[in-house]
Amino acid sequence: MTAAAPATELSIETTGLSKRFGHQLAVDSVDLAVPKGSVFGFLGPNGSGKTTTIRLMLGLAAPTGGSVRLLGEEMPRQLHGVLPRVGALVEGPAFYPFLSGAANLHRFDAADPHVPAATRKARVQSALDRVGLTHAADKKVRAYSLGMKQRLGIANALLAPRDLLILDEPTNGLDPQGTREVRSLVRSLAADGATVFVSSHLLAEVEQICTHAAIMSAGRLVAQGTLEELRQGGQARIRVLTPDAGTAADVLARLGLSAATGSGSAAYGGAEVLYAPLPEAAGNGAVAPEAVVAALVAAGVRVRGFATEQVSLEDRFVALTGEGFDVVQ
Ligand SMILES: Nc1ncnc2c1ncn2[C@@H]1O[C@H](COP(=O)(O)OP(=O)(O)O)[C@@H](O)[C@H]1O
Ligand SMILES: [Mg+2]
Repeated sequence: MTAAAPATELSIETTGLSKRFGHQLAVDSVDLAVPKGSVFGFLGPNGSGKTTTIRLMLGLAAPTGGSVRLLGEEMPRQLHGVLPRVGALVEGPAFYPFLSGAANLHRFDAADPHVPAATRKARVQSALDRVGLTHAADKKVRAYSLGMKQRLGIANALLAPRDLLILDEPTNGLDPQGTREVRSLVRSLAADGATVFVSSHLLAEVEQICTHAAIMSAGRLVAQGTLEELRQGGQARIRVLTPDAGTAADVLARLGLSAATGSGSAAYGGAEVLYAPLPEAAGNGAVAPEAVVAALVAAGVRVRGFATEQVSLEDRFVALTGEGFDVVQ
């Protein structure tokens, strides 16, 4: 038999990946598909299983069930062949505070049996340059800001050419300036052709830097795809502003639409905001927005505002995870 043609090339693929801690399934049958070349956001609230999943991917913990392929190779069986092509930042590396940034990288590089010593100096310089730390190369790490330490951690992951970078919450604990620095760095890493897998509990961050995302909730993967696909999974809805909310709700119900009252209605001078999900335009039971307006007006409803809205990625994520996301920065 001839080998089947490869489907979309995946840099990371997990199948039924699970990890149990006592009674708790911290990672519950996770099937991740991370396309080559993507900047893939691994999004989920704190405690949803992101770090555990990353540790399983890298062979830092053993799964209770399921399997992982990194760069097409089975883990942890091919660990020694694969890891040299993977740069990782998981729980910031421990740097020697009394050594300079450059000296720390020299030490880490010297501990890596897969890289040539002859090119060490040049590789350390280029990694520092890549993360914008050339000016601080000779400064002791204890004088580094948190953002600089985090960038040094990323430089450490970049000491050799990498096909895949796995960064666990690289902006966690950083001030706004450090956060901006690390985000723009992550974006530029992907521009060099590496696949970047980056976890975050911040939706806004993933929207800013990623092409794809997966959403974790309580150990389960609840959605994944391009950001566009994830948005489209959310339904469109209509928004009606009217002082005749009761009549309007009846009219919508006759059209097969179930309305809910929005919050903060008092702000509209006696009018209320009604929301109703709009069935798929092409599907069964499709209702054109203009037909809704016509029916409302015909029933004597004073329509002061009307709009069709796409549900935002945030609404969708909140609906999927049952949690709000910190919407900051
Ligand atoms: N070594 C461990 N022993 C026991 N429980 C753990 C361990 N590591 C993580 N957990 C639990 O697994 C769940 C997922 O944790 P984690 O993967 O760190 O989530 P996240 O990175 O999304 O914040 C949490 O409830 C956490 O307490
Ligand atoms: Mg974590």
